Amino acid sequence: MKVNNGFKLVKIIDSGKAIRCLCKNGDAIRYHSNWLRDNSLDSMTRDVNNGQRLINHSDFSDIYIESVSLDESGENIFLTFAPENKKITFPSNWLIKYKYDKKIKKIIGWINPNLKTWDKSFSKNLPEINFEEAKSNKSSLYKWLVSLNKYGFAKINRCKIKSGALVEIADLFGYIRETNYGKFFNVKTNVNAINLAYTNLGLNPHTDNPYRNPVPTMQILYCLENSVTGGDSIVVDGFYAAQLLQNQNSYFFDLLSKYSAHFEFKEKNKVHLESERPLIELSSSKEIITIRFNNRSIAPITNVPYKKMADYYKAYNLFSNIINNPKLLVKFKLNPGECFIIDNTRVLHARTSYSGEGTRWLQGCYVDKDGLLSKISTINK
Ligand code: FE2
Repeated sequence: MKVNNGFKLVKIIDSGKAIRCLCKNGDAIRYHSNWLRDNSLDSMTRDVNNGQRLINHSDFSDIYIESVSLDESGENIFLTFAPENKKITFPSNWLIKYKYDKKIKKIIGWINPNLKTWDKSFSKNLPEINFEEAKSNKSSLYKWLVSLNKYGFAKINRCKIKSGALVEIADLFGYIRETNYGKFFNVKTNVNAINLAYTNLGLNPHTDNPYRNPVPTMQILYCLENSVTGGDSIVVDGFYAAQLLQNQNSYFFDLLSKYSAHFEFKEKNKVHLESERPLIELSSSKEIITIRFNNRSIAPITNVPYKKMADYYKAYNLFSNIINNPKLLVKFKLNPGECFIIDNTRVLHARTSYSGEGTRWLQGCYVDKDGLLSKISTINK
């Protein structure tokens, strides 16, 4: 691999509307004058404490580069912008890090390289930590959080067996997102259930609350009692399932990612939540970013054209079959004091049915994923 450690030649092109930089490894990279001015690193452009931009790019619509040069080592590049006669220095490697003059691979359905997809075999090596270690050892906590992000799943054991203790687990990496279900909610048998999750029926793999906008991004499920027969927890990597769908039938993948499904949840005179989003959501660069899959809360789909609806249902069925394939299911029994955390934008969860004898009592809550990513980035390990 070629190491890039600065520029050896720079020149103005397009009458000052851009520059062309020749890297020491031979690569040539172009940058526009507007982009360079907008991203200037000086204290008049960026606040020195928080990095927030202090200028407005529309103030520089007529800007051009009057001069450009390098220092002797090629590590710094000096620019003069006209007509404001603004002199700015950039470290060359900063510009190389943020280059945008590159070929973009048009891969549809790619996955962030920091993530690793998994199937059933993942159950042999689940990322786990004990609560006390997570609280007291920053290095262990960091490794566990990185795994949580990488796999979209991790377990935490030997927590306090006390109602509400899951709040302390959320505190390890983020902030609880309160909903109409409260700060946290109980998942327990309830004869007068308003939601099927509160019965002893099995639940197929699903993501939670796709009817919310935005959807909850992380979920903690925490066990207080589990003396029933059955009631095992199951998780499935939705990103992996989406890639399998694409490999098996790219047309079906396109249907589920291009057209929005419709999700709805109502509790009479109390709550009415609704959203329209694809089952497989892609970013503008076609990265898989969110899976929404919940048979219980899917509402009449109206955003798929008549001539595509029959195929859409075939695609939905195939995706469902892949998700429910035993080769993808990671199954485990959650014991009191244990909990698991999932990325609800990626990993589906399920449970097997359980008998009425004994008690199965879980508590759950939602946490925002940006808090997890921020913690990983800033933790003093
Ligand atoms: Fe759920």
